[in-house]
Amino acid sequence: LTDDLVKYKDYVFAKDMVNAEHIDSLQTFEIRDSDIFLVTYPKSGTIWAQQIITSVCESEMGDIYPNNLEMMPWLEYIDKRPDYSLRPNPRLFASHLTPVLMPPGLRDKKAKMIYVMRNPKDNVTSYYHWCVNWAMFVTPKCFEDFLDQWLAGNGRVKTSFIKHHGCVPKCFEDFLDQWLAGNVGASSWFDHIREWHSKRDQYNILFLTYEDMIMDLKTAVTKICRFLERDLTEADINKIVEKATFKNMKNDRKANYEFIPEDILKKGQFLRKGKIGEWKNMFTVAQSERFDQVYKERMKDMTLKFIWD
Ligand code: PPS
Repeated sequence: LTDDLVKYKDYVFAKDMVNAEHIDSLQTFEIRDSDIFLVTYPKSGTIWAQQIITSVCESEMGDIYPNNLEMMPWLEYIDKRPDYSLRPNPRLFASHLTPVLMPPGLRDKKAKMIYVMRNPKDNVTSYYHWCVNWAMFVTPKCFEDFLDQWLAGNGRVKTSFIKHHGCVPKCFEDFLDQWLAGNVGASSWFDHIREWHSKRDQYNILFLTYEDMIMDLKTAVTKICRFLERDLTEADINKIVEKATFKNMKNDRKANYEFIPEDILKKGQFLRKGKIGEWKNMFTVAQSERFDQVYKERMKDMTLKFIWD
């Protein structure tokens, strides 16, 4: 693992975004029947599903949150964490955690969970770009620069964002090795998918794929509404679909995370390409073959099928 990552309870965390005490406290986190959890491995379509779920629940939650991140905060991160027990219903949470780290109350099947997954070649491609762009942009040019930021109170935030990704990959080949070995934030894609999918009967959980959403967004939104037992009209659903298109999300400040200051996050990194099959512009033939071998081995007993292009 790179210095900025830490393994705790078999899961790779970014050191500055979490602490052991908080992760342990999730074991006694009280679940409400009305809670909604979105769970993903990073770069699988989290902010996209976040946009849809927050839109579905918007009329119940009112206009009190400035953006989707505050409307549906990350369960595991300690930055700016309010007291969630004070939140009115419905409470929405996003998480990249594995089942064992999540609040055990979820297994009572009261709260609803949505798990979004993405074909792993596009996943690693998206993850790689995000690491490179984010880290390059925020790494302070020199100590003087960093000292200024730190004195202005931006230092901790910046470091935590730099460290969020852990690794600044030298090249795609390097990152691919780390990703395949599970040495990236959120650990192994294979373990994540396997653990959630194999334990699906213990949860009230809906599985969706990024590719389903690309190919037929309206059907995906309708599925989400039905699962969440929100009886929306056709016109409401159309409005949500419109709000969740790549183009509209890119221009939607509540959704695109561009409220994160420009000096921390290079604009446009959460909504980069938004396509199926971008991996073809990244993988060499040899890398693709190696990946296929590992995939075949690690997924051999899984029934899941992905759309690759
Ligand atoms: S994170 O950091 O884990 O929250 O990232 P995550 O949101 O899971 O994944 C980011 C990728 O999702 C794409 N995205 C979309 N694609 C199509 N349509 C819409 N509306 C949309 N919103 C987000 C985003 O572009 C990232 O994928 P890449 O391949 O990098 O473009």
